[in-house]
Amino acid sequence: MLLLFFLGVATSRCLHDEIQKSVSLLRPPSSQLPTDFRSSFLSLSRSSEPQPLRIQTYYKRDPISDGVWDPEGHEMRGRSRALAAVREATQRIQGLLAVPPVRGPLLLSRDPAQYCHAVWGDPDTPNYHRCSHLNPGYKGESCVGAKIPDAHLHGYALWPEHGPPQLIKPDGPGVQNTDFLLYVRVAHTAKCHQEPSAIAYAACCQLDSEDRPLAGTIVYCAQHLTSPSLSHSDIVMATLHELLHALGFSGQLFKKWRDCPSGFSIRENCSTRQQVTRRDKWGQLLLTTPTVSHSLAKHLGVQGVSLGVPLEEEGPLSSHWEARLLQGSIMAATFDGALRTRLDPITLAAFKDSGWYQVNHSAAEELLWGQGSGLEFGLVTTCETSSSGFFCTGSGLGCHYLHLDKGSCSSDPMLEGCRMYKQLANGSECWKKENGLPPGAENPHGEIYHSQSRCFLANLTSQLLPGDKTSSHPSQIPHLKGTELTGRCYLHQCTQKGEYKVQVEGSSWVSCLPGKAIQIPGYYGILYCPQGRLCQTKEGTNAVTHLPVSLPIQDQLFQLSLGLVGPPGHLLGKEQKEELAEVVLQALVNRGGTDRCYFHSWSITTRLVFTVHMWKSPGCQGPSVAMLYSTLTLTLQEKPLEIYYGDASFTTKYSKLLVTSDHNPSSFHEFLSMGLCLLLLILVGALGTVAYQKRATLQVGPSAHYHQEIHGTRAQLETKRSVILPRT
Ligand SMILES: *[C@@H]1O[C@H](CO)[C@@H](O)[C@H](O)[C@H]1NC(C)=O
Ligand SMILES: *[C@@H]1O[C@H](CO)[C@@H](O)[C@H](O)[C@H]1NC(C)=O
Ligand SMILES: *[C@@H]1O[C@H](CO)[C@@H](O)[C@H](O)[C@H]1NC(C)=O
Ligand SMILES: *[C@@H]1O[C@H](CO)[C@@H](O)[C@H](O)[C@H]1NC(C)=O
Repeated sequence: MLLLFFLGVATSRCLHDEIQKSVSLLRPPSSQLPTDFRSSFLSLSRSSEPQPLRIQTYYKRDPISDGVWDPEGHEMRGRSRALAAVREATQRIQGLLAVPPVRGPLLLSRDPAQYCHAVWGDPDTPNYHRCSHLNPGYKGESCVGAKIPDAHLHGYALWPEHGPPQLIKPDGPGVQNTDFLLYVRVAHTAKCHQEPSAIAYAACCQLDSEDRPLAGTIVYCAQHLTSPSLSHSDIVMATLHELLHALGFSGQLFKKWRDCPSGFSIRENCSTRQQVTRRDKWGQLLLTTPTVSHSLAKHLGVQGVSLGVPLEEEGPLSSHWEARLLQGSIMAATFDGALRTRLDPITLAAFKDSGWYQVNHSAAEELLWGQGSGLEFGLVTTCETSSSGFFCTGSGLGCHYLHLDKGSCSSDPMLEGCRMYKQLANGSECWKKENGLPPGAENPHGEIYHSQSRCFLANLTSQLLPGDKTSSHPSQIPHLKGTELTGRCYLHQCTQKGEYKVQVEGSSWVSCLPGKAIQIPGYYGILYCPQGRLCQTKEGTNAVTHLPVSLPIQDQLFQLSLGLVGPPGHLLGKEQKEELAEVVLQALVNRGGTDRCYFHSWSITTRLVFTVHMWKSPGCQGPSVAMLYSTLTLTLQEKPLEIYYGDASFTTKYSKLLVTSDHNPSSFHEFLSMGLCLLLLILVGALGTVAYQKRATLQVGPSAHYHQEIHGTRAQLETKRSVILPRT
């Protein structure tokens, strides 16, 4: 499920549903393994108390970028930015969503329609619906282009007509302490190419027995990760948006939402919801579940009314809130940058209504757009005449509704003709010092650009304009006659909740009375003080929005690279590389004496360079990651790792640890200059570059006499012994 993210005034089509539609959602089938071969744990027992959702991420290096020439370190920088964003987004989600934890290691399902060519079709035989004939072209499972390692998958077997089953692959070890597996790719995919404004897209691929999403992939369009126009917070917000799609906010998944009348913890009487969406009399699609309806009514100040929440029209399905009504929500289809986006209470309500999650509502961020504006708010028919102050008419200059930016009154396809003040493409942020006039320049309107500056409607003009030294009446100064109100940047300071004062260049602080126009000593004209928009946070004295903050030091990201040497001439296939990477990781975990929860997104290249990212997952017990880092550095210097895999042994030749402060690319240049860049020049051998395809070309086999198309009726089936599986 994709999402498109636009910055500035760009507009674009959203590909979200298109991606999710192309994925066949797998649910756990009845086991295809004989009991002796099954792993002993029951992975999806769901009776325990909800715990924060544990998301484990796996970075999947794309085959094309594996070892490709990368002199500027683009791939590495992109990957690091993506992983830093994923980490921050998953940590936020942990504070939001809780689920009954998956017991034992998480194992994903294999698609019988992929690995199996035909199943036994006679219900009276013990092997009914079991695989009778393998698909010789089976290439394993993948999720939106990310290959799922066998280690994460259930095994499968072939069941002959008589005699014992033949085990083809046993169950993998699975992934411990995990409720959702997220595969991460950074790539130039065809979709990225087709929609150049898409930052990332994601889809869910596997569901548990209650249809809760268990695994998904997020694909970052590589070119955006190296672009300076996106901040780290923008990428985090984009990631959060995508993850929320993959976790259940999706047109494809709405119909699977659950109703649990006995409460969240007692899962006994849960059933699929009868109705989740409907169309109102104007044909607008609405999400109608109780918590979202209540939450919207509260937001608009019309409590007691049961409203559905309008969804954006995006073709047959819809996976975003209607932008006219919920502008600035994380799940609206347009994205104006992290600063203007909120993880709003209505979106959180949707997750509660999914029935899969317990939601921490206190983590919601206030959505200013439309707050208290009543039932009629956001209708195409009312936006032109509304007095709410959120919409505008004409094309003048004013202030974006959050007052962080100046804006021009304009529309976009999601607004269906309604207009709002949208920030300008360039230099309209009042909170950016660098947008200000150069020192010494004339500043007749007394503007101040500063992190604490906000946009105000004003027509202030200095009484001390050069050349107008004699103070005369404004009407006698030609250019002051009837100066229109426009958006200007001035310093503000909250005094208490909803109250603030302002400062204009050269003036003292003046109290601003919300809803009133004030005068500023030394200036002609007025400044209009917005009501209900500034200083709304409970603490009062803090600024209205969170500006970008730097991360605390313990949030550093560590990357460890190990160069391995193996027997001469030893070549590894793709699957072997994955298995070897697992073995190396386990050796490293043992060496560090810690849990796996410090290690993320490991991979190994054809030239045997193993890379892993290190940070401490929430809930992870043990020393700080910095401590583990120094332990590993020391012990790896003292004694190389020895790894046995297959019949070969591998040792670490060198190790490199890299610390980054997340979104600071400069440390990567350092890393490169340390000498590892040489490794990037080496092209992959033939084995490493074999591109995998989701599905081999497979004919529905006409030859074998005992096979039969599955499309027949039940009566037909009973006379046949084996059935060809439909390809999805
Ligand atoms: C709920 O969210 C609040 C605000 O983000 C946070 O302080 C708190 O720790 C969260 N609670 C849980 C159980 O995660
Ligand atoms: C589940 O539903 C049945 C039948 O309506 C009822 O008897 C039972 O008490 C319910 N269980 C819970 C835990 O509410
Ligand atoms: C935006 O800024 C750039 C560089 O300062 C400038 O060249 C361009 O003309 C500006 N565009 C607009 C629309 O103001
Ligand atoms: C500023 O705007 C107000 C309201 O539109 C108007 O009455 C006043 O004359 C303007 N003042 C100047 C100095 O332009």
